[in-house]
Amino acid sequence: MKAEIRYFTKTGNTKKLADAIAEELGTQAKDLSAPLPEKTDILFLCSSVYWAGADSSVKKYIKDNANKIGTLVNVSTAAMIESTYAQIKKVCAQAGVTISDKEFHCRGKFTAMHPGHPDDTDIQAVKEFARKVMGEA
Ligand SMILES: Cc1cc2nc3c(=O)[nH]c(=O)nc-3n(C[C@H](O)[C@H](O)[C@H](O)COP(=O)(O)O)c2cc1C
Repeated sequence: MKAEIRYFTKTGNTKKLADAIAEELGTQAKDLSAPLPEKTDILFLCSSVYWAGADSSVKKYIKDNANKIGTLVNVSTAAMIESTYAQIKKVCAQAGVTISDKEFHCRGKFTAMHPGHPDDTDIQAVKEFARKVMGEA
């Protein structure tokens, strides 16, 4: 079962989750400058929201790599919204990409909100999530 991990981050929060998944799976997380090298069973795509929307580079990455994504697993941080899942699901539908109904989301620090997040508990939780996804895939 082949998995790849990609992330987009502006302030580092989401990269923490991507790196934790990578550590758990014994691989490396890469930013969106790295296209998928080949067909991958699972793509953990780690993103966030800025002014209520996912960054355009995340949407472009999904479209550009659509034919190499087996199943996209959404991972996100945000300060206020519950998840980027709905937005990413919409992009996947447009690109013809399968998105898992399993997702991981936690708070990310933003100004005075959620200091320290993702914290150690979040990191352990995302590792467990990744283990479970790979175990069930
Ligand atoms: C420019 C900017 C705009 C943001 N807008 C939102 C927003 O509209 N809704 C929200 O829930 N969080 C918002 N946030 C908070 C981020 O989603 C949160 O801090 C997230 O963890 C950032 O991830 P990153 O550090 O990987 O970039 C914003 C953060 C930044 C820097």
